Amino acid sequence: MEVIIVKDNQEAGTVAANIIAERIKQNPKIVLGLATGSTPITTYQTLVKKCQEDNLDFSRITTFNLDEYKGLLPTHEQSYRYFMNQNLFDHININKAQTFIPSGIDLQDPEQYDNSIESAGGIDLQLLGLGVNGHVGFNEPGTSFDSKTAVVDLAQSTISSNSRFFSTKEEVPTQAVSMGLASIMNAKEILLIATGSNKAEAVYHLVKGKVTEQWPCSILQKHSNTTIIIDKKAASLLEK
Ligand code: F6R
Repeated sequence: MEVIIVKDNQEAGTVAANIIAERIKQNPKIVLGLATGSTPITTYQTLVKKCQEDNLDFSRITTFNLDEYKGLLPTHEQSYRYFMNQNLFDHININKAQTFIPSGIDLQDPEQYDNSIESAGGIDLQLLGLGVNGHVGFNEPGTSFDSKTAVVDLAQSTISSNSRFFSTKEEVPTQAVSMGLASIMNAKEILLIATGSNKAEAVYHLVKGKVTEQWPCSILQKHSNTTIIIDKKAASLLEK
């Protein structure tokens, strides 16, 4: 696991976007795995700039997002489809038909999502954020390392943390559809970003902890091509 320590989230976004842009140039038909949340917003802003100012070409890429809230329509302002359109897809020359996000509504056969990823040739580069409790995607502590895409229950801490985006407590989704840990581990390359002191404990378990299903992120120690970009605050427990 390669660890890159940066100053703050802004710099993390620049470093991550540079890596992603490099990979797109090497392989214009790359399959990217994408994340939502606060962390990758600066990465997406930098990618938008690269498209608009430097003509970085997204026209032939394919994307698969990690997760979607159960019960939210793509048009809902807190859905991850809405987030991706707002933060990235609406501002770059991507073919939206080639952007995939698990459906939060049609829950018949979530594992079909893994088949779609496989049919597209697998994920070349997976971008990840990190939950305070060590979740990646919405794979909460206790999730099997063998998990594939599934409907999952969100941990109480995740529900509380997500409540900042909803006006009432009742609206906050308690379930999501998420790619599983095995789905994520299938990616050829992984790029995880974590910034802020509230991520320090999870980062410790990600890099130095025992590999255990209690800290889902720890499975990434077993991936042969993972880079993590963390700021000094998120790295604070590594140095001790
Ligand atoms: C989002 C996702 C989550 C987030 C994590 C961190 O698609 O899968 O694992 O990456 O909850 O969220 P932020 O970046 O808001 O701290």
